[in-house]
Amino acid sequence: MNPKLCAELNDGHHIPVLGFGTYAPEEVPKCVITEATKIAIDAGFHHIDAAYMYQNEEEVGLAIRDKIADGTVKREDIFYTSKLPSTCHRPDLVRVCLEKSLKKLQLDYVDLYLIHFPVPMKPDNNLNPTVENGKLLFDTVDLRDTWEAMEKCKDAGLAKSIGVSNFNRRLLEMILNKPGLKYKPVCNQVECHPYLNQSKLLDYCKSKDIVLVAYGALGTQRYKNWVDENAPYLLEDPILGAMAEKHKKTPALISLRYLLQRGIVVIAKSFNEKRIKENMKVFEFQLPEEDMAVIDSLNKNYRYSTAKITSAHPDYPYSDEY
Ligand SMILES: NC(=O)c1ccc[n+]([C@@H]2O[C@H](COP(=O)([O-])OP(=O)(O)OC[C@H]3O[C@@H](n4cnc5c(N)ncnc54)[C@H](OP(=O)(O)O)[C@@H]3O)[C@@H](O)[C@H]2O)c1
Repeated sequence: MNPKLCAELNDGHHIPVLGFGTYAPEEVPKCVITEATKIAIDAGFHHIDAAYMYQNEEEVGLAIRDKIADGTVKREDIFYTSKLPSTCHRPDLVRVCLEKSLKKLQLDYVDLYLIHFPVPMKPDNNLNPTVENGKLLFDTVDLRDTWEAMEKCKDAGLAKSIGVSNFNRRLLEMILNKPGLKYKPVCNQVECHPYLNQSKLLDYCKSKDIVLVAYGALGTQRYKNWVDENAPYLLEDPILGAMAEKHKKTPALISLRYLLQRGIVVIAKSFNEKRIKENMKVFEFQLPEEDMAVIDSLNKNYRYSTAKITSAHPDYPYSDEY
């Protein structure tokens, strides 16, 4: 891993500051995910973000192993993130679930294991959330107990680093203040882009030496199950467009660069070869302070990812407020 393109985590490991997103909705053929991941590794992406819930770990693992076998990278060059699904928050399921991921990946360890979402759910037989009469069945698990099981996965060497995702400040504090805490979360992966710049959460994370990792950095895939069809198109924002023209870049690169310059680790998903290669160009330019301030002013706390589920399920016990 190129140390210049990495951030140090609070446990001493390093995370590449630009990651490759692998989530794709069901209708995308699985072989496309393998191909795109191989193209991304060839293009220089060494940080790969996936999850048990994405049901893509066999395909992503295959791509990583292929690129190791053909000599493009070594295992230690790759930083692979997986995530614990909400249906496996019960402490006795945490390691079992990570081992299932490793089996699909055919890898010995993941670099980073995250609690994917802070809302425990009852599992069905296939570890999907149980739905009864259209209602999601929630579980009652103390996230601090889940965290202890995560710590054991790190001690067992199955995950080099452990962290959280979609945690607000209150939940982060709950983990940090846990009596007997052995390891702090190294990161909090949350939705973050110019329309939701997360400035307060970022300041809080920095003050606790927790890296903020941004997903949806390009305005998300607007996946219909999650995102309102009337949601604004980030990459069509006229101010980002004008800035892109000024720097002879694209709105996507401006958005990625803006996040990187604030000390955020950024994930970008593309399954298109041209755009995968384009996204690596984020290291080739800088935004001056005045442009950063202009992009700051685009913030409207607009959250693509959870608005639909929280309105469809008013009993959904999740608050994404800072
Ligand atoms: N922790 C969580 O709860 C969570 C939630 C959501 C996502 N994630 C992770 O974060 C990753 C990224 O988020 P995301 O999947 O929502 O998408 P995203 O990175 O915001 O990308 C959105 C879309 O932008 C397009 N794009 C990429 N590069 C571009 C470029 N240079 N110019 C124009 N368009 C471009 C891509 O389409 P093309 O493929 O057609 O290029 C992609 O569908 C996911 O894949 C997943 O790994 C985590």
